This record gives sequence, structure tokens and C-alpha cells, in this order.
Amino acid sequence: MPSSLQCINCAQQYPIQRVIYACEACGGLLDVRHDFDALRKPISTDTFDDRLGTFEAPYNSGVWRYKELVYPGIDDGSIVSRMEGNTNLYVLPRVAAFAGINTLFLKHEGENPTGSFKDRGMTTGVTQARILGMDRVACASTGNTSASMASYAARAGMQGIIFLQNQQIALGKLAQGIAFGATCLQIDADFDRNMELVRLVSEKLGVYLLNSINPFRLEGQKSIMFEALQQLRWQVPDWIVVPGGNLGNSSAFGKGLLEMLEVGLIDRLPRLAIIQAEGANPLYRHFNSGFRQFEAVKAETIATAIKIGNPVNLQKAIRALEWTSGVVEEVSDQQIMDAKAIIDGVGIGCEPASACSVAGTKKLVERGIIKRGDTVLGILTGHVLKDPEATIAYHADQLADLSPMYANRMRQVDANLDEIVRVLAESAPSASDYT
Ligand code: F0G
Repeated sequence: MPSSLQCINCAQQYPIQRVIYACEACGGLLDVRHDFDALRKPISTDTFDDRLGTFEAPYNSGVWRYKELVYPGIDDGSIVSRMEGNTNLYVLPRVAAFAGINTLFLKHEGENPTGSFKDRGMTTGVTQARILGMDRVACASTGNTSASMASYAARAGMQGIIFLQNQQIALGKLAQGIAFGATCLQIDADFDRNMELVRLVSEKLGVYLLNSINPFRLEGQKSIMFEALQQLRWQVPDWIVVPGGNLGNSSAFGKGLLEMLEVGLIDRLPRLAIIQAEGANPLYRHFNSGFRQFEAVKAETIATAIKIGNPVNLQKAIRALEWTSGVVEEVSDQQIMDAKAIIDGVGIGCEPASACSVAGTKKLVERGIIKRGDTVLGILTGHVLKDPEATIAYHADQLADLSPMYANRMRQVDANLDEIVRVLAESAPSASDYT
């Protein structure tokens, strides 16, 4: 029996074919457990290094390259893949200098097929939906999960049903859900309420739920760690820095890192730093209270992707923090947008929530928690085109309560040669702009 579901609180086990999202005995979150002992032999850095650059499915995917750790034993024919993953790891000295450290690697998960890391979880989630014979899948979303689910559902011939907060979704994400043919429900409720609603509707109608409470999502998202470590030639950085919303990614990172240690791919664990927006910081508050009494918050931030006040993966994220001696930090919308302008300005770009990784690193360096000489791997979670309104409003200084530190102002110019030459002479760059 290679894989099973297991409660993270009471260790109750369930067969992998069961459609459940919480323990029936105690209500705890579920893990997918694989029997690595039975599979230990094929799991080595050589196996994964040999697959690099292959055109052969499913190993051409940056998720399924690690199939033995993601979902061993399943028939390759059942896999729904868009060759997700295979994202770049950037070394960006100017961004590192902004954050106050010497060595910063940024892994750009916005380079996935639908522009966010969600594709890594959707390939495994929709594959499981297909294995279970589902024809309808659903999620509540701040936009990226829905964009990704809509794409993978369409590829698998399933109906995608998405619960969106009215008026609060970035345009790039909304456009994707509609374009990929999902049934889009705009609901007058925030993400946290939509999450409750989609759970009820899924149960009532027998629709397969593909939010990150579904443990198969996290099995795919673990591969961000596998791939990053492979790109670092299996050398462990001191820190992994990641934005935290519903806390699926942070939970997946903790599990993936521990499994890599267990099977001997790495020899120590990095420390995890989870970064939240100040206006959507329930984990940050909980962390600072020594994990005593958890309180949900009413979320508000310009980083709409992480506008979440009651994260479903809380217990798994706490576990990941404990395993990795992790920390939680918060950053303001101003810090998020300024860090984004720096990441955008070096020609890489990301959506607002992603910039938490850099803004949070900077703050942790200022607080002396991350040291200048530490090696940091930050995750950029979404593509710059996801939220064009926020980017344009920042550079035009149109965001309330925020003054852009790095605005690139558009210039209105008459259709006249002399006028254009005059304006360009005024805005000649200095060499330092390009370092
Ligand atoms: N960054 C981006 C770009 C996201 O879209 C999300 C989550 C996060 C960070 C936070 O990740 O939830 O695993 O802690 N977006 C979800 C969505 C909630 O519906 O697209 P998390």
C-alpha cells in the first residue's frame, strides 16, 4: 500500500480513494502519506538530475520529475499536466542589496503556465480528481487558484466552479477563469466566507474541492522545494522566505523539506520565514502570542492574493514552523509595493503578494533575524501581469495611504520631434539605474 491519507492530529488513516478533506474522528487536517521506505532505492539526486531536460512525459514537468516523492505508483496516463514548474531561479544583486543581504535567490513561480505556483498543486489535484472519476471541481479563490483550476479542469474535460469575491479580484486572474470556461460565481462575501461556502456546496453536490485544504494540492506544491534545491545543486540555503495567505505553500514547503531530509536528498533543514500583509496577518499575531488562542482577522491589503483572515492550513503551517525553527513577519502595503517596484525594475516583475518575500527579507534583516551573510531563497508566487491595476496605480501615485518610493511616471508628450527629444534629454538615465 504505497500511499494513504493520515490525520495530522490523531494519526487516523484513510484509504487514498476516500473523498474527505478533514479527519472524521477529530476534524484535523489530512496529509497524503507515501511509503518511502518501500521506494527508497529510486529516490536519489541522480534519478532527478538524469531527468533534467527530458522531453518525455511526465518527467518533463517540474512537478512530475519528482514523481516518487509526489504521487508514486500511479499510472502516468492518468496525469493531467501542463509541463508546470521548471521555473527559473534568479540571482539579482540589486534586489539583494535592497533587502540588505549578499546572496538572494528568487524562484519565480509566476513562470508557471497560468502565471502562479498554483499550477503545481492543480496538476496533482486534478489528477486525483480524474483518478476518483470526478466530473466537477470547485474552489474559492482570491484569483490564482481559480485561474489555475479553470485551466486544468478544461484540460481534463471537467467543469470548474469558482467562488470569487465581488469586485476584489485582480483583472488578469478574473480574465483567465472566464477564458478557460469555468463557471464563475461572483459572491458578495470575502474569501474566508467563500471558503466556508465552497466546502458546504462541494459536500452537498459531491463536487471535488480543490482548495489547498485538499492534501493532494500540497503534494504538488512541495515540488517548489525539490526543484529549488535541485537548482541549488542540493545545497541547502539558510532561509526560505514565502508569502502566507491560506498557508498552503508554507505547509507544503515544511512537508517537502522534511521528506527530502528523510530520504537523504538534503542533510539539514533551512529555516522558513512566512510573510503576511499587515492587514491580513492572523498567523503573525498567533506566532507572536506563542500560538495561544488563534483569532481570525477581517483581512484588508492591496496584495489581494493574500487577503485572507482565517487560513485553512493553519495547523500545518504551525507544524512547518516548528520543524524548521521558522519565523513569521508582517509587512505594510507600502513595503510590499516598494519591494515590488524593485523586483519589477530589474526586469523580472511579480504581483503584489509575491513581493512579500523581498519586503519580508528586508524587514527580517533590519531586525537582525536574517544576517547579511545568510543565503536566502525567496519565492515569487505570481506573474507581474496578474494585477496590472495595482502596478499602474502605484507608478501614477494613485494609491490611497501610500507614496511610491520608486515610481516610474508616464510622460504625456506632444506628437512633435523637438518635444520628444527635449523630454528624452530630461530623462536620460544614470549608469547606476542599471546596476
Ligand atoms: N501569492 C500568490 C500570488 C497567491 O495567489 C497566493 C494565494 C499566495 C501567495 C498565498 O499562498 O495561500 O498558499 O499561503 N492565493 C490563493 C488563491 C488563496 O485563491 O489564489 P498560500
